[in-house]
Amino acid sequence: MLEIRELSKIYENYGEAGRLEVLDNINMEVSREEFVSIIGPSGCGKSTIFNLLCGTEEKSGGTVTLDNIQAKPGDFSYMPQSDLLMDWKRVWENIALPLRIKGVPRFLAKERVMSESSLYGLSGFENAWPSELSGGMRQRAAFFRTMLSSGRIMLLDEPFAALDAINRERMQEWLMEVLEREKRTILLVTHSVDEAVFLSDRVYVLTPRPARVKCCVEIGLKRPRGCELLTSPEFNDYKAVLLKNLAEGGEGNG
Ligand SMILES: Nc1ncnc2c1ncn2[C@@H]1O[C@H](COP(=O)(O)OP(=O)(O)OP(=O)(O)O)[C@@H](O)[C@H]1O
Ligand SMILES: [Mg+2]
Repeated sequence: MLEIRELSKIYENYGEAGRLEVLDNINMEVSREEFVSIIGPSGCGKSTIFNLLCGTEEKSGGTVTLDNIQAKPGDFSYMPQSDLLMDWKRVWENIALPLRIKGVPRFLAKERVMSESSLYGLSGFENAWPSELSGGMRQRAAFFRTMLSSGRIMLLDEPFAALDAINRERMQEWLMEVLEREKRTILLVTHSVDEAVFLSDRVYVLTPRPARVKCCVEIGLKRPRGCELLTSPEFNDYKAVLLKNLAEGGEGNG
């Protein structure tokens, strides 16, 4: 479905050196309803890939197609690395933003948010201000907002990074339940190898900057997956492969 071919990004006029090469010929594929994760060292260019896909940055080379047609920014629903909730708008208004942009009347948008908020653990908080939510609730609100955007592919940039380990595991399980009810095509950036193995059908490992594809690992664990998996030998085998590739860094390209 989604094909990223030889994607490259160079920031020109950058510091002393004059240029910063961030992405070097990245190739990736994502099939319909597949859950694919990207892991790689901090600063290697993961968020840059998302910024190029949704058009907030210009690519230096390569092609991105969706069902063989050049992809447009509107094909992607983007949940950026920071939750970007607007503090001066109520929780429901934040969540309803993509509907309002599409021209859905205010009362209908509100109705939609109210009717689904319990799925996201937010019932009773629709009229609160973002500052009154916990970190996990803010992230669920940001995720709910992303679910209401009409892009065919969801781009999630470290959606659980702000949470401690226990809450993070809860959110991962919760995310899997939501996705079992409502299938989506997802590309996720994470620093957590556990999270990548637990959630994904496939994981791309990137090298340090300029990022190249070090390897792509199929995660053959059966679904539905529960937290008992986290201590299983197979789970640890996948983790070991990913950690080894991360530690090696270096060369790579597909
Ligand atoms: N707008 C920009 N202008 C210049 N350089 C940038 C810009 N955005 C990112 N960079 C540089 O590109 C490199 C990759 O940044 P990016 O945010 O993609 O990394 P990342 O892999 O997402 O890192 P992290 O895991 O820490 O979020 C960094 O060195 C960063 O300084
Ligand atoms: Mg990033």
